[in-house]
Amino acid sequence: MNDTNAVFPEIVISGTGMWTAPYVITNEELVDSYNRWAQKYNTENARAIADGQMEEKPLSSVRFIEKSSGINARYVYSKEGILDIDRMRPKFAERTEDELSNQAEIAVAAARNAMAAAGKTAADIDAVIVSAAYTQRSYPAIAIEVQKELGIDGFGFDMLMACSAATFGLHRAYDSLMAGTARCVLAINPELVTPQVNYCDRDSHFIFGDVSTAVIMERRETCTAPNCFTVLSTKAYTSFSNTIRSNFGHMSRATDADPYGWDKLFHQAGRQVFNEVSPVAAEHIRKHLASHDITPQAVKRYWLHQANINMNKMVIKYLLDDALTPDKTPTILDRYANTASAGSIIAFHKHNTDFSTGDIGVICSFGAGYSVGSLVLQKI
Ligand SMILES: CC(C)(COP(=O)(O)OP(=O)(O)OC[C@H]1O[C@@H](n2cnc3c(N)ncnc32)[C@H](O)[C@@H]1OP(=O)(O)O)[C@@H](O)C(=O)NCCC(=O)NCCS
Repeated sequence: MNDTNAVFPEIVISGTGMWTAPYVITNEELVDSYNRWAQKYNTENARAIADGQMEEKPLSSVRFIEKSSGINARYVYSKEGILDIDRMRPKFAERTEDELSNQAEIAVAAARNAMAAAGKTAADIDAVIVSAAYTQRSYPAIAIEVQKELGIDGFGFDMLMACSAATFGLHRAYDSLMAGTARCVLAINPELVTPQVNYCDRDSHFIFGDVSTAVIMERRETCTAPNCFTVLSTKAYTSFSNTIRSNFGHMSRATDADPYGWDKLFHQAGRQVFNEVSPVAAEHIRKHLASHDITPQAVKRYWLHQANINMNKMVIKYLLDDALTPDKTPTILDRYANTASAGSIIAFHKHNTDFSTGDIGVICSFGAGYSVGSLVLQKI
């Protein structure tokens, strides 16, 4: 039975932070190395290709990438190996079990940034959620490693939810704060995506970049930050699809499959994803806003998932019957590329200081799963 007199606590986002990877790869650099690799492959396999036993590798083009995706460049944790045509994957030095893992390292950097913005110390935080498209290992959880590194007393856990890991992580944070099982949550998205990119696949070699984002969420009564937003509510939706998939996992050893085969890396039917997900995302946002009696037109800003500029244009067209403008729907994918779940949080982090009290904004992610996650925010 519903208690109609229940008083729900007000939950706020009081700080955000991010870590930007140290190296940039432009489309020109990436296409040059892919094309040199493809030409070498085609030369080495010329006879089999001529006999029809192998397929020729098609060349990539900067013009296609920019027109089809809006991506101009991406930041990466490790550059050298990606552009080396005898390697075609990033190169990381393996760390010992006593060293901080790469993912915890970038998570901690973004977390410190968010904690400073929210005016929080480790003593104020009691829950750490690390949610990302991939985790570097299965256990112990990266979140617990981050918790130890920051000196936080409480609990931490990892979550995987592909492109919607960040919004679904915030969904969990919101629920914990509402239920009173946490009083201040640090939700982090260390998206170390480039190790899973197939740099020998022209359809997807340009899509991803590395980044880490972090958000502090707490109850309003403990918030002291100068710039904060009430979370009016969160909303999540999933519907199974095989169109975006990575089969990498602990089962490869037992199935005798090649643990590094093409299907163990990111792969997708991009055009199908584009057509199927855009209307679902727009409808999801419309329903979420309607639950607060807010029209799509009344929203000051949409911090949308950053996978493809044309997809975001389509979502805005469905929602507002209008063109995408930088003020209404900021774009960061041109510089950062697709950063898995972190894209909408980067957009929010970089574009939220010009709000007046009462202004409404929406964070929304969409992608693999399929999954759609949103938060309706109101400036305090
Ligand atoms: C991936 C994506 C950029 C491709 O753009 P697109 O306009 O849909 O392009 P298509 O896949 O229809 O391909 C068009 C043609 O360009 C070719 N092409 C693909 N990659 C190319 C490249 N790098 N350079 C040149 N041509 C390329 C294709 O092979 C295809 O050739 P064909 O017509 O001879 O078959 C786009 O579909 C997308 O971003 N979709 C959303 C995906 C998404 O959000 N995924 C979530 C991931 S987390």
